[in-house]
Amino acid sequence: MSNVETALRIAKLREEINHHNHRYHVLDDPLISDAQYDVLMQELRTLEAERPELVTSDSPTQRVGATPQQGFAEVVHPLPMLSLGNAFDTDELYAWHQRAQELLDGATFDMVCELKIDGLAVALTYEDRRLVRGATRGNGTSGEDVTANLRTIRSIPLAVIGDPVPQRFEVRGEVFFPKSGFDRMNDERVAQGEPPYANPRNTAAGSLRQLDPRMTASRPLDIFVYALGYAEGGDTPDTHWKTLQWMKDLGFKTNPVNAVCHTLEEVEAYYRKWVEEKEALDYGVDGVVVKVDPLSYQRHMGIVGREPRWAIAYKFPSTQEITRLNDIGINVGRTGSLNPYAILEPVNVGGVTVKMATLHNEDDIRRKDIRKGDWVTVERAGEVIPRVVAPVVARRTGKERKFRMPKRCPVCREPVVRPPGEAMTYCVNSRCPAQFARLLMHFVGREAMDVEGMGEKLALSMLEAGLVADISDLYYVTRDQLLSLDRMADKSADNILKGVEQSKGRPLPNVIFGLGIRHVGIETADALVRHFGSLKRIVTASEEELAAVPGIGPKIAESVTAHFQRESNKGVVEKLRRAGVRMEAEAGARDAGPGPLDGMRFVVTGRLSSMSRSEAEGRIKEMGGAVGSSVSKKTTALIVGEDPGSKADQAASLGTQTLDEEQFIKLLEGDTLLLKGTEG
Ligand code: IVH
Repeated sequence: MSNVETALRIAKLREEINHHNHRYHVLDDPLISDAQYDVLMQELRTLEAERPELVTSDSPTQRVGATPQQGFAEVVHPLPMLSLGNAFDTDELYAWHQRAQELLDGATFDMVCELKIDGLAVALTYEDRRLVRGATRGNGTSGEDVTANLRTIRSIPLAVIGDPVPQRFEVRGEVFFPKSGFDRMNDERVAQGEPPYANPRNTAAGSLRQLDPRMTASRPLDIFVYALGYAEGGDTPDTHWKTLQWMKDLGFKTNPVNAVCHTLEEVEAYYRKWVEEKEALDYGVDGVVVKVDPLSYQRHMGIVGREPRWAIAYKFPSTQEITRLNDIGINVGRTGSLNPYAILEPVNVGGVTVKMATLHNEDDIRRKDIRKGDWVTVERAGEVIPRVVAPVVARRTGKERKFRMPKRCPVCREPVVRPPGEAMTYCVNSRCPAQFARLLMHFVGREAMDVEGMGEKLALSMLEAGLVADISDLYYVTRDQLLSLDRMADKSADNILKGVEQSKGRPLPNVIFGLGIRHVGIETADALVRHFGSLKRIVTASEEELAAVPGIGPKIAESVTAHFQRESNKGVVEKLRRAGVRMEAEAGARDAGPGPLDGMRFVVTGRLSSMSRSEAEGRIKEMGGAVGSSVSKKTTALIVGEDPGSKADQAASLGTQTLDEEQFIKLLEGDTLLLKGTEG
């Protein structure tokens, strides 16, 4: 290539790359694949390496160009960066609006509603189209020059597009750490044994203050711009709404949910919508910013102190509060896990009184250094159970006590164990009453023994009456014992006994799943049965033998042996055997070679008249087929009973074959020819 050709090619590549960068990072609507983008970038890098004198600051190769800095220079903002007054309820919003109208001699005006992003404000200065400086808000008068770091944010244009453009201008916006990227980063940190970061906002702030821009570049920071600071040497729009559109046209990322509202009712509706839906956003927000639209009105209304009178932050009900952590309690889950929870001084968090919050596990408590007696930040986000975010270390008195996991189960007093490499501590006594209530529910559940007529209430009252102390006792309960329970009629007692009796014939994987062995789901139970063929062989298998089974890792192998090492658990199996519960795999369920339905996937929907759904699924699996819960392209056929739901529609739209009950029974009898695509 001649020098001129290279220069032209470089210019063309930059234009293309900037365009695709904008499509991807600003508009969220890419036109080419990542790989295709990389090819363009690579070509540009190569050409620029050949012609270093052609490298410019707005070249896409220069986002992460700078080397680590000593510190940040101070930047005095040409126009102060303001804060916002708050409204916490409708009355305050109306009061703000009324005052605004008075200042405007009764004029009516449109308002722009934006989300108040929970990040940090920055000012970006452009000269002759190019980004020349980026600064943090700091104290509003002066901030820090973090240009090198801001350049690494892909949604910030290094050069703006469109014309004409003022010779020099400054836009303002909020930099934030997307929630998804934040969670991903924390997962990676935890996996590498590093402590997770507490919240996206502080982490975004910390990322912008990294002295090495490569560190900032490794964080998926993003921005929404929300205002034009000033502009010289060119025209700018006369309303805020048009300014947002104008900035968007220049290549900036504006929030797509911004809206114009003509009345306060519309503002209220916007606010209510986002109170409801904010958790679904990929960034944190803490309110709605309402701004008077005409810029001439804004100028007329002016500023008091640091707060413009033409805008207000209508805050969402707070989801975080600070309260005292009075104690740390422990509850025992079905698998015996000891789950620590915070017992709090009751506090109102966004309209709900919170007295308890989860604390996840021992490591998490240690990482966050949460101590009994601490003042802590509690958060209630969406539907989830409140959680303790972090202690307020500055409020410590020295009387706080560190938490230690108990050595014995708080319910049954048996010693607990924490398996190496696991975050949870467990009570492994299957007769532990706390665990047992949950285990019993699990045992009689649909995927396990599927005992008809047994609900949660009945299980609990049998437990309270002392009729069952371990799951096998269920098979020894008499009719008289049942009738001794509150409000138990003859007929229901008979039904229960029938259900219990029938459950004895459940396939072995369901029996094993029902035992509630940690890490053993139905799939794992299936794999064990296919390999060993009987419960006895599984009980006596060594850890090595177990770990050698396809699909069984060392963690499961360890858990299974630990379970059956306990005499009480062996006793349960023995009592189940004596009661007549299935202990052997059904014929054909062992790994004797592929079954007739090998490699096929089925989904069962609706009610079948000749068997329960889980029985149908068991039969499919016995014949080597797999069972899914939703119809996809991989589904061989959908088995349709009475009153099928949306799965039947799904099958129709995907063109998946459906079988009615009669056809299904033929299939179970071995008639695989009725499946489409099967040849004799
Ligand atoms: S307007 C006077 N719009 O809120 C105009 N600010 O409390 C001030 N913020 O420092 C900014 N989202 O960091 C505006 N859509 C938005 C905003 C927003 C978040 C932050 C900004 C500012 C603070 C003011």
